[in-house]
Amino acid sequence: MEKRGMLYEGKAKRIYETNEQDILWIEYKDEATAFNGEKKDTIIGKGRLNNEITSIIFERLREKGIENHWVKRLSETEQLVKKVTIVPLEVVVRNIMAGSLAKRLGMDEGTVMDTPIVEFYYKNDDLGDPLVTEDHIQVLNIATPGQLENMREMGLQVNEVLKEVFATINVRLVDFKLEFGMTNDGELLLADEVSPDTCRLWDKDTNQKFDKDVYRRNLGNLQDGYQEILNRLGGSSCTK
Ligand code: C5P
Repeated sequence: MEKRGMLYEGKAKRIYETNEQDILWIEYKDEATAFNGEKKDTIIGKGRLNNEITSIIFERLREKGIENHWVKRLSETEQLVKKVTIVPLEVVVRNIMAGSLAKRLGMDEGTVMDTPIVEFYYKNDDLGDPLVTEDHIQVLNIATPGQLENMREMGLQVNEVLKEVFATINVRLVDFKLEFGMTNDGELLLADEVSPDTCRLWDKDTNQKFDKDVYRRNLGNLQDGYQEILNRLGGSSCTK
């Protein structure tokens, strides 16, 4: 596989074309950002940790029958994925009250919800990624009702698998964000990443945070928590 020209550089990743039309080459960066890019830092090792953790998670999801864009890990910071056109929605699934929902509803973080909840946010930096309803999504014309239903269902399925994966390593899956894309064949596929950048992960016994809130809230060293998650998941799966 050959790496070709860069297609896109985001906050946390660079995406390149390859000599295969349907495969992209992703490089995870050491940059951390929060609050729509207002807080920004280089954190050495973050790219490696997210690439490794995402690779393990996508592989586990596939083993459990949840298809996704991940193809192969290439190196500590690189992976291959299937090419998709990203649907500009963030699908957030929550098990425990935290973050923006705790703020929106004026509730304490840590309340366990009876059933998981699913929210959609419109991916738009200029608007600050607002929460949107299904009717808003129809007005925006960015996903059909059928696609939305699929994203909700897949979000809940991912939640069931990941709750179990994290429970076995003594971690509570508080909430997480997913992104989906459309393949050239018109298939809706789970894409982007699933890592401590995109999940809230609390130690089951101490509630210690092992996720990006450590960075957002200046709670200490972000890499330590991410490394702890990687270690508990069984460490690197890299063959190269
Ligand atoms: O901030 P909020 O409580 O809405 O975040 C919910 C979940 O989605 C958290 O796990 C957070 O890390 C993730 N998220 C994300 N990218 C965003 C917004 C939220 O990964 N742009």
